[in-house]
Amino acid sequence: MSHLENLTLTIWRQSGPDDAGHFERYRIESISDEASFLEMLDVLNERLIDEGKEAIVFDHDCREGICGTCSLMIDGQAHGPQRGTATCQLHMRKFKSGDEIIVEPWRATAFPIIKDLMVDRSPLDRIVEAGGFITAPTGGAPDANIIPVPKPVADAAMDAAECIGCGACVAACPNGAANLFTAAKVSHLNLLPQGQPERWSRVEAMVETMDEYFGSCTNHGECEAACPKSISIDVIALMHRDYRKAKFKNRKLISQI
Ligand code: FES
Repeated sequence: MSHLENLTLTIWRQSGPDDAGHFERYRIESISDEASFLEMLDVLNERLIDEGKEAIVFDHDCREGICGTCSLMIDGQAHGPQRGTATCQLHMRKFKSGDEIIVEPWRATAFPIIKDLMVDRSPLDRIVEAGGFITAPTGGAPDANIIPVPKPVADAAMDAAECIGCGACVAACPNGAANLFTAAKVSHLNLLPQGQPERWSRVEAMVETMDEYFGSCTNHGECEAACPKSISIDVIALMHRDYRKAKFKNRKLISQI
């Protein structure tokens, strides 16, 4: 195990949603290269608390790349310099002694800053509430296993299901679009047999809820590069295909009621 002898952190501090916010610089000395980025912030926070100062507020929960809670813009990159990695899985060995690291919250109109590095990502919840579920009783695991699903379809659905809802795609997008997030959630369910009864209403509701809060996709592809689960922008094409079909099918359905 080796140590990074010194680091300079430039961190966004903002006391609340109405504060203008500013950057503050901190020196960190002798941090293990085996520490995660969040552990390094923990060390800094312990020091700040010891000095009677306010700790830096940042989101975290599982620290295993599962929950999607961590969310830092590190040197201008969502989740930092290591591709396919959430902030909590980023280790200090990716940096070297003497580095200056800039740490910011997600920057997106739809994600207002609550405090310091913590933002309100609840617009993503509104999208899931609009259709990111199934209402058909599916039974237990053995019942699911007797429904044949072609391997390529199962693989595509499970790849989409890897989305942890962190919002890095929104933060990385120059338009603040949530198309990768929404498309991953739509595709995960719309590809599987269990998701078929609500397929058309789901995609329509989720896309239209997304449009209420987020910007429009113009195919920059930054979302795919920033995604800690490397979800492909192919799911956006699947979502658009289903949305166009839904506008036709749902209209026909409504005219028959
Ligand atoms: S803290 Fe759960 S994914 Fe990072």
